[in-house]
Amino acid sequence: MPRSADWTYPTAIRFGAGRIDELGDACATAGITRPLFVTDPGLRDLAITTRALGVLAAAGLRAEVFSDVQPNPTEANVDAGLAALRDGGHDGVVAFGGGSALDAGKIVAFMRGQRRPMWDFEDIGDWWTRADPAGIAPIVAVPTTAGTGSEVGRAGVITNIATHTKKVIFHPRMLPREVILDPELTIGLPPAITAGTGMDALAHCLEAYASPSYHPMAEGIAVEGIRLVKDYLPRAYRDGADIEARGQMLVAAAMGATAFQKGLGAIHALSHPVGAIYGTHHGLTNAVFMPYVLDFNREALWDKVDRLAAWLGLDGGFSGFLDFVLRLRRDLGIPHTLDRIGVDDARFAELAAMAVADPTAGGNPRALSEADALDLYQRAYDGRLG
Ligand SMILES: NC(=O)c1ccc[n+]([C@@H]2O[C@H](COP(=O)([O-])OP(=O)(O)OC[C@H]3O[C@@H](n4cnc5c(N)ncnc54)[C@H](O)[C@@H]3O)[C@@H](O)[C@H]2O)c1
Ligand SMILES: [Fe+2]
Repeated sequence: MPRSADWTYPTAIRFGAGRIDELGDACATAGITRPLFVTDPGLRDLAITTRALGVLAAAGLRAEVFSDVQPNPTEANVDAGLAALRDGGHDGVVAFGGGSALDAGKIVAFMRGQRRPMWDFEDIGDWWTRADPAGIAPIVAVPTTAGTGSEVGRAGVITNIATHTKKVIFHPRMLPREVILDPELTIGLPPAITAGTGMDALAHCLEAYASPSYHPMAEGIAVEGIRLVKDYLPRAYRDGADIEARGQMLVAAAMGATAFQKGLGAIHALSHPVGAIYGTHHGLTNAVFMPYVLDFNREALWDKVDRLAAWLGLDGGFSGFLDFVLRLRRDLGIPHTLDRIGVDDARFAELAAMAVADPTAGGNPRALSEADALDLYQRAYDGRLG
């Protein structure tokens, strides 16, 4: 693998160890002179953040830090960030962190010149056309986890605390202008977060691939993304300083988000309500549901997953792939049942109603009824496959 590369698909990407040193140049290219640096409280005082801020200072860019972003960010986080952006006279955003900080930063930049409330831009029909594109501030995105791929996405996920639902805010111009994928930034990720975020990348690739809509380009990206997760996630989990594995996982995450414009499916549909109500980690929650949903989709996926297993060098077609997922989860210390991530069975009926209403449910290769969702929650609680 080359040590660094530059891509312009789906946006301008600078890939390689140490390329955070180009953050000032990335801002200049994006047209940002006074960035608001959006991150989260866990990252605020880490050495990687100090380093990134140092790069900006050395480039003569006066950045201000906004770090009031919680995991599964809320409207209040966006409002506070927007106030910081407007009050500080910032002309762009550096979004630095995991999916939570990236999503919050992207939406803050998007909202800068909008006159309507954020919920008016939910990803429904053509609601995005309500936005004034001239009011969107440029974004440079720097992921510090390898999972969501939000850095190459045109949307952000915000929890509506009034309804306990996760909503997707979308605009094509929310796509960051410049992205830095630097594996040195993910070296310090604790193994549990490496595992959970990496499984989110796998869920994106797998659900994009499985989704029935016609998008062969996205499918091609998804299958190679799955191979990268298979080959490199266990390595990154075992040895956080394995720079090649960290780099390949950043690429796999970006590929997952590039592919999932084709669609997602029941893994995400079941997971979103759980994340919104119980505050569980998104990728970890997806990982718990993954084999149950695969099993549920079995009939619809025989041929496709046969081809996928062949590409991955796995014997046994569909069953071989399902075994691989179960083995991978075990190797990464991911629980097999919902109770072990703090989810009880008291609210399954409510969760099932929310799951079928989630926008990702429609992308599942097999129709997901409320009864199916209820059954899947129960199976994931009991640990029942097949
Ligand atoms: N926009 C999208 O397309 C998209 C896709 C999937 C998920 N999401 C959203 O992304 C969020 C989840 O993002 P995530 O999984 O990256 O987790 P996260 O951003 O919530 O981060 C998890 C934790 O890891 C810490 N962390 C991040 N980088 C670190 C590093 N390098 N070293 C040490 N600690 C570090 C953070 O401080 C935080 O405590 C959810 O809100 C989810 O809904 C968005
Ligand atoms: Fe996801």
